[in-house]
Amino acid sequence: MHQYIKEFPTHEGKEITVKGWVANKRESKTNIFVVFRDGSGFAQCVISLDAVGEEQFELAKSLTQESSLALTGMVVKDEKQMGGYELQVSSLEIYHISAEYPIANKAHGVRFLADKRHLWLRSKRQWAIMRIRNELKMGIHEYFQNNGFIQMDSPIFTGSACEGTTDLFETDFFGEPAYLAQSGQLYGEAMAMAQGKIYTFGPTFRAEKSDTPRHLAEFWMIEPEMAFYTNEMNMDLIEAFTKHLINRVLKNNQTELEVLGRDISKLESVNQVFPRVKYVDAVQILQGNKEVNGKNAITVQEEDLAAAKQGIEEKNAEVKERETTIAGGVKKGVRKFNESKILQLKKEISTLEEQCRNIPKWIESARNFKDGEDFGGSDETVLTRVFDAPVMVYNWPSKIKAFYMKEVDGDPNYVKGVDLLAPEGFGEIVGGSERETSLDVLVRKIKEHDLPMSEFEWYLDLRRFGSVPHAGFGLGLARIVRWVCNLDHVRETNPFPRRYGRLTP
Ligand code: 4AD
Ligand code: MG
Repeated sequence: MHQYIKEFPTHEGKEITVKGWVANKRESKTNIFVVFRDGSGFAQCVISLDAVGEEQFELAKSLTQESSLALTGMVVKDEKQMGGYELQVSSLEIYHISAEYPIANKAHGVRFLADKRHLWLRSKRQWAIMRIRNELKMGIHEYFQNNGFIQMDSPIFTGSACEGTTDLFETDFFGEPAYLAQSGQLYGEAMAMAQGKIYTFGPTFRAEKSDTPRHLAEFWMIEPEMAFYTNEMNMDLIEAFTKHLINRVLKNNQTELEVLGRDISKLESVNQVFPRVKYVDAVQILQGNKEVNGKNAITVQEEDLAAAKQGIEEKNAEVKERETTIAGGVKKGVRKFNESKILQLKKEISTLEEQCRNIPKWIESARNFKDGEDFGGSDETVLTRVFDAPVMVYNWPSKIKAFYMKEVDGDPNYVKGVDLLAPEGFGEIVGGSERETSLDVLVRKIKEHDLPMSEFEWYLDLRRFGSVPHAGFGLGLARIVRWVCNLDHVRETNPFPRRYGRLTP
């Protein structure tokens, strides 16, 4: 039986065998240092001439990046190493010497990496992201299963549009048009009337031609639906659920968060109370007419802009300094170190430059935001920057929300919808609402939204037979993974993302 890197602490001082791949290799005359990965983790393995003998040492020299092999050796504590242990190898067995691997240990373009997604998944950062995604999924099931919810599978072929007709993927269902599900909600509502509290967890599809860092064409959505819940109870649930998920990752994914360089304190902010802000107040905050804890949204942006400009200056100065050091003639190690620092600095400068281009546009858009419209991505960024914790915006204009949302009592221009906006500019990760219970209002809304009534007859039955107040929400898995991992783009959140302009691999 072979063992796994993750279990190194329990094997300290023992000889074990691990099986995996060469992530990186460097060698001297008498030692070969392999950064070894086996799926469970990464660890340094030392192959020394003394320990393995000449023949095996020669064999080890032939190892290329991503070659696969088994290593037998002693697990030794070494605080300096990732994970705190290394393997001192006594013998090796090669499975396959890898051809020249296209993804080197250097910066590559996003397009190149997306084309090589089937290999890119092996990189340390991608490894960390996928493990956090897995942890979030476990946390989602754990939370709902421990709180009396039943998981239901909603259909993927559907005859009706839940979230409006503009972004449907049409397919052929035995000669009839069918759509890939945008949401499982309507079916979830039916099941909630049978089971009380349910949640769906499945793929959903949106045909928006949105090439943004937030949009996928295929994404996994989690949609709880609860009978006898108001929107206030819905918000309580969203808050408790989100806290549970983030705290579970903080507890179980320390290694992965470290690999990603995630600022943990930003995630710990979920343990504060989530502010709840009405849409109309959110508009005032966005336009800079209303402050939050002494912070003005527009001023915060202006400060961010000034900080970005200063950051560029400072980093440019550091680049110059390091270039001068290199030009002065230094040892190879020092030069390499400075070169890699310069590369990193240039990357940071380019991010700051992008901010300098964006922020003025965001300020413009926030100042001129029209009351009654939906927030764009940048508006959410500007709005959330004044809050430290995730914020819930509720009571939205009816016009911009789906047909099924319940009208605010006495004010039909607004509906009892809620969006959870993640901090640090990540924006919407949850959308939900209390559902309309009145048959008459629903019929009117379906007409107003120009939806085919015949497709909703079954749904209207839920209001004919024992209609009850109920509510629910949808969490986008990609969105929460992006936030937790602090990713520039949702393209890294799915193993094989499907989005506008990307179907392969
Ligand atoms: O806000 P949405 O459209 O709401 C619904 O679909 C409701 N039926 C949910 C419900 O009340 N049961 O989508 C819910 C969430 C969004 O908040 C976002 O996190 C995610 O799904 N989402 C997307 N994620 C990635 N790519 C896209 N194109 C997404 N569209 C929505
Ligand atoms: Mg939404």
